[in-house]
Amino acid sequence: MRRDGYRIFSAGQIRNLTLPNRFVRSATWDPSIIVGRQMTDEVLDLYRQLALGGVGVIITGGLPVLQGEMLAGGKPPSYDDFHVDGIERMADVVHRSGTGCKIVAQLEVGYLGAGPSDVPSPFRQERIRPLSTAEIRTIVACFVEAIVRMKEYGFDGVQLHAAHGGLLSCFLSPLNPTPVSTTRTSNAISSSMPRGWTWTFR
Ligand SMILES: Cc1cc2nc3c(=O)[nH]c(=O)nc-3n(C[C@H](O)[C@H](O)[C@H](O)COP(=O)(O)O)c2cc1C
Repeated sequence: MRRDGYRIFSAGQIRNLTLPNRFVRSATWDPSIIVGRQMTDEVLDLYRQLALGGVGVIITGGLPVLQGEMLAGGKPPSYDDFHVDGIERMADVVHRSGTGCKIVAQLEVGYLGAGPSDVPSPFRQERIRPLSTAEIRTIVACFVEAIVRMKEYGFDGVQLHAAHGGLLSCFLSPLNPTPVSTTRTSNAISSSMPRGWTWTFR
């Protein structure tokens, strides 16, 4: 099959990141490394095969940066609580494929039992409580720490998971302009929202 004329085979660009083509391997959560916090040869082999198969960019499955209990505990959450041992091998295996494939780490906060307001997510009908401003700052700090670490580990960029009823998607939801008590917090957050959810490192 001739590839000329098919835009999907032409080089792609996400800001300053050049992709060899426009095939994207969409994020696919992988409990085998999240639960054990340990990279496995099986996952590395999958990423190697995806790169060798000609994908332009792979977005990893969501990597958690915080869990609900961490907000309640006295100890400030740290990236080390969620670190997957050997995660840097994922970036390495993709880059070593020699195909020019890029890899973006997806970072997420899932269900915290708390959100921008007390409006439940349509994904889960359970009641939630509004986050305090201090808690939101803690969550932001967790994202920042994880972003810095992903850069150190050789990933080409990060994507913030803002779908599927997780915390960030609640901030984007039209169901969530919110009781009066939290409107100010929500406005402060939404006015500082970036225009895109994928950032590149180079
Ligand atoms: C097993 C599985 C795990 C997924 N994990 C994630 C994830 O971690 N983050 C995410 O944003 N989307 C995740 N998705 C959604 C996919 O990235 C994709 O958007 C969805 O499957 C729709 O694309 P499709 O119609 O090609 O399947 C997952 C999907 C599946 C089937």
